[in-house]
Amino acid sequence: MLMTNFLRERKSIREFKNKKIDVDVLAELKSYLNSIENDDGSGYIRFRLYEYGENLYKELKGIGGYSGVMIESPHYIGLELINNQEDTIIYGAYYMEKIITKLNSLGIDTCWVSIGDADEGQKEKIFGEIIGKINYILAIGYGKPRNPFINESISHRIGVEDLVFVDKIGNSPKADELENRGLDDLFYYIRFAPSAFNNQPWRFLLKKDRVSLLIKYNDKEKPSLMDAGIVMYYFEYLANSIGINSKWELIKDMTVEDENTHYKYIGEFKL
Ligand SMILES: Cc1cc2nc3c(=O)[nH]c(=O)nc-3n(C[C@H](O)[C@H](O)[C@H](O)COP(=O)(O)O)c2cc1C
Repeated sequence: MLMTNFLRERKSIREFKNKKIDVDVLAELKSYLNSIENDDGSGYIRFRLYEYGENLYKELKGIGGYSGVMIESPHYIGLELINNQEDTIIYGAYYMEKIITKLNSLGIDTCWVSIGDADEGQKEKIFGEIIGKINYILAIGYGKPRNPFINESISHRIGVEDLVFVDKIGNSPKADELENRGLDDLFYYIRFAPSAFNNQPWRFLLKKDRVSLLIKYNDKEKPSLMDAGIVMYYFEYLANSIGINSKWELIKDMTVEDENTHYKYIGEFKL
C-alpha cells in the first residue's frame, strides 16, 4: 500500500480478537526485530516480543495505558532502551514505527501503550531482569471487526497551516506556497502520524533548502521525544517517496520560546 494511503487510513486499534498470530509469522517478526536492532546499530535499542500476552495483560491491568486502561492483545512488543539519551529515545520510537509499518503489511493491527506508571518492581516481575527500561509497549494482534453501520471517525488532526511555519516560528505558509514547492502532500499526510494523547506536538520550520522539526511543549511538560521519533520516520519515508533522499540530522540542546510556548529543535532535514 502506498504510504500516503497507509497514513490516512492507519489508526490505533484498542480491541483485539482472541486470536493468536500464526507461529511462522511470529518467527518472521522475531527475525525482523533483530534486523531492525542491527539497522540501528547503537546497541541501545531492543525490541522484545512477548508471545504470551495474557500474563503481561494481567500484570499491567489497571496500571498500563491511559489512566490504567490497559489494552488487551494476544502479544506485545516491548521497546527496551538501554540508556536515556535523547537520540536513543528518538530512534527507539522511530524504529518502533518502522516495525508498525511492517506489521501493517502483514495485516496485523497495533496500539502503542504507555506503561511509565508501573514501578520498576512490577516491571521486573513482568519482563524479568532487563538491562534497560521499558516505558512503552506495542499491543499487536487482529482487531475486532468494525461495525459498518457506525461511522468510526478518525482522531482529530491539526491543519497544515498550524503544522508548518515558513522562515520564522509563527509564520503560516501562504496559499499555494507548499504546493509550489511540491511539499503539500507530504505535510498533508504527515499529520496522520500517531502521537501520545493525540497531542500532535510536531511543528516544521521550513526554510529555502531545509526543514527543521520542532516539538512544542509547555512549562508543565517535557518535549515528547517519542512523538518526535515517530514523525521523523514517516517524514523520511514520505520525502523519499517523492524523490528527496535525505535523512534527519539531530540537533542538540536548542530550544526557543514564542509567546509562552516552548519549542525544542529536534533535527534538520535537507530538501
Ligand atoms: C508514544 C505513544 C504512547 C501512546 N500510549 C497510549 C496508551 O497508553 N493508551 C492508548 O489507548 N493509546 C495510546 N497511544 C495511541 C494514541 O492515543 C493515538 O495514536 C492517538 O490518539 C491518535 O489516534 P490514532 O492512532 O488512531 O490515529 C499512544 C501513542 C503514542 C505515539
